[in-house]
Amino acid sequence: MNREFRQTVIAGNWKMNMLASEVNAFSERLGTLVPGFRDWCGVVVCAASVLLPAAVKAFESIGVGVGAQNMNQHESGAYTGEVSAGQLADIGVGYAIIGHSERRELYSETDATVNQKVLATLKSPLRPIVCVGESLSQREIGVTGDIVAMQIKMALHGVAAEEVRKVIIAYEPIWAIGTGKTATPEDAQEVCRAVRNILASLYSDEIAKVITIQYGGSMNEKNALELLAQPDIDGGLIGGASLRPESFAAIINAANQ
Ligand code: PGA
Repeated sequence: MNREFRQTVIAGNWKMNMLASEVNAFSERLGTLVPGFRDWCGVVVCAASVLLPAAVKAFESIGVGVGAQNMNQHESGAYTGEVSAGQLADIGVGYAIIGHSERRELYSETDATVNQKVLATLKSPLRPIVCVGESLSQREIGVTGDIVAMQIKMALHGVAAEEVRKVIIAYEPIWAIGTGKTATPEDAQEVCRAVRNILASLYSDEIAKVITIQYGGSMNEKNALELLAQPDIDGGLIGGASLRPESFAAIINAANQ
């Protein structure tokens, strides 16, 4: 983390877990475990669409933002089953995860779709959390840097310098997601630094310096402190460990010291 230049953002990704009836108790418990957030530390919970109204209501009182896990790139129209950025913002949602590897793998999201979704969030009040990351075989072949560079260049195609500060990048090695295998802090730092270098080459050093880059992939209460101590890791996107207020709070507290 580098608090001098950029905001730390700890975001939970609940995926297809939790019920609306459980959200209040979660928020109350989290509020008791985390004594208050500092200015430079944002906390967000990304919940399933159906939970979002309850989550916005419950988390407002403890200063936690709410994010969607996906959204449609179009403003409105005949897209049965889809939700737009405008609809999310209208109910108080402030963030949207874009291009999570599960969306890319299981729902055939391409870099081109990811780009359209990023552009759609930037026309709305939402802040996109753009996920990039390599598979195990790509890491073994040694193309992690190329893959991540391509994903970022594609995701940010057409994004102007004055808009890109709103973007959060989440580096999530696919082999570390939900597996209990975390990238070592050094490996995670190396790729997050490479991400910042790509941003500098696309925009400028000044802009790259202020963009929040998260690490995601089996981040938990045990490894968070070490990961967050890396200079280019400005937060986390946390799946499994965000489902219990105790473990999520421990990660927030690690960032919020
Ligand atoms: P995990 O998930 O923390 O359970 O590995 C992270 C993510 O998918 O964003």
